[in-house]
Amino acid sequence: MRGGLPIFPVEADARSVVTDHLFFGLLGLSVAIILLVVSLVVVFSVRYRRGSSAKRGELPEIVSKEFEIGWTVATFFLFLFVFWWVSSSQLSGFKAPANALEIHVVAKQWMWKTQHPSGVREINALHAPTGVPVRLVMTSQDVIHSFYVPAFRMKQDVLPGRYTETWFKANRPGTYPLYCAEYCGTDHSQMLGEVVVMRPADYGRWTAVQPQPNDLAGQGGVLYRSLGCGSCHDAAGPNHNAPSLGGLYGQQVMLSDGRRALVDETFLHQAIVQPDRNAVAGYPATMPSYAKAIDEEGLNALIAYLKSLPAHAGGRS
Ligand code: CUA
Repeated sequence: MRGGLPIFPVEADARSVVTDHLFFGLLGLSVAIILLVVSLVVVFSVRYRRGSSAKRGELPEIVSKEFEIGWTVATFFLFLFVFWWVSSSQLSGFKAPANALEIHVVAKQWMWKTQHPSGVREINALHAPTGVPVRLVMTSQDVIHSFYVPAFRMKQDVLPGRYTETWFKANRPGTYPLYCAEYCGTDHSQMLGEVVVMRPADYGRWTAVQPQPNDLAGQGGVLYRSLGCGSCHDAAGPNHNAPSLGGLYGQQVMLSDGRRALVDETFLHQAIVQPDRNAVAGYPATMPSYAKAIDEEGLNALIAYLKSLPAHAGGRS
């Protein structure tokens, strides 16, 4: 349960501090400008009301051209700074550090499913260690959802048919509410979960006591063999009508229409469920779609398996 923790604790996550500074900085700036404008409106409407004897002639000498230019340029640079501040803090949310722990999230009407690299699965919960960046690779099995953890100032849409990602680095152990922030049907408001942040040693103990049939890549290997992927992809000689998949992740490939594509999670996902979309140059486009044969959690496992394959190797036996 929530344990009485506030939804917006300060410093629950490393980046939330920056977001808070940004929010209150912009709020303070807006309030200062509104106060200035409103008080000038009030002062001028009183001073220059009809019938008042206030002077209405030329501007005094103090409002020189230099003063006007200086004021305009200063404001320009102030807002340029605000633009840089906001965009740099927002852009840092996209790319997780290289050493991040990778956790998969599958959203569906109306629950959150998470898959750890160790093979541990959870429903409506995500356990994570403190002090370690956690990269979330997310997709949806049906409609658009949005992964929202207010304590981490983190909100990212989760879309069917592609992967979106975000990351966090939790500072304080605790249980933080997780919401769906995109209207997704009848039980949208019940699509709740919690992020349980533990000290690394506790997280290790928690992982050790979970049921673990196989790690994620191992589960993918079972699927790879049961779906018969190897009969084309591992074949040699005249039957070699499909690219071998070892070491492919992270590489550039040439497509039959002349484009180059980076083999990332989204590319592999499309290659399995919409193989016509990115036909690889030099191979016949004979692969059928596996969209009906495998669900999003299975795809996460299969892609984890493909990522684990070393170069110049077929499927693990
Ligand atoms: Cu899922 Cu709203």
